[in-house]
Amino acid sequence: MRKLIVANWKMNPLTAAEARVLARKSDFPGAVICPPFIFLGEVGGLLKKADLGAQDASWEDQGAYTGEVSPLGLKRAGVKYVILGHSERRGYLGEGSGLINKKIKASLRVSLKVILCVGEPESVHRGGLAATVKFVVSELKADLKGIDKSRLIIAYEPIWAIGNGNSASPEEINKINLHIKKYLGKNIPILYGGSVGPENAKKFLREPLIDGLLVGGASLKPTKFSKICTWKTKI
Ligand code: PGA
Repeated sequence: MRKLIVANWKMNPLTAAEARVLARKSDFPGAVICPPFIFLGEVGGLLKKADLGAQDASWEDQGAYTGEVSPLGLKRAGVKYVILGHSERRGYLGEGSGLINKKIKASLRVSLKVILCVGEPESVHRGGLAATVKFVVSELKADLKGIDKSRLIIAYEPIWAIGNGNSASPEEINKINLHIKKYLGKNIPILYGGSVGPENAKKFLREPLIDGLLVGGASLKPTKFSKICTWKTKI
């Protein structure tokens, strides 16, 4: 199976000109580019090899929901993937499993490919493997209530590893991914995210249990992102 490299630009860049430059330099087969909503049209129009993704989507299709972005509208705008349940949304906006569950259902209804992020905070990580597995599985259980699990992509993103250069080790990730696959089924792709860069991408992509990467900071640096995507094609 081809490994998926998802670029999560988060709230960057700030101008369409910068987004266009970044999009042109990030256009690799097997990559999914997730720009801010305001640049989806610009970026989507430029990508030839990579797919387009969104960083969130509403729990409703249409209507009086100020500030929300419709999954159906995203689909019609050429978006193929959607990231849901990112720890920054859970943390800063208080998104909980109830809302995330409704968002997943709404996105699946319009055949968007859902990338659901799960992962434990530092305090749970310190409690060891059993505590981490318990946390991640209970997050999955709550987020996925009543959902056909066979159509999902999971991103395991330990919160303590995001944006600080302190990635989890392939051994740690393998252990968690094995438990996730045991819970969801072995054919569910599981990405890893958390301080991925060109210096460590290869050691993750070599692992049979890691099906791809979710890249934040390094996806804003074209030289770094292109190296990550090139490792992937060499595997
Ligand atoms: P990072 O972010 O690569 O900057 O650690 C990953 C993410 O939050 O998706």
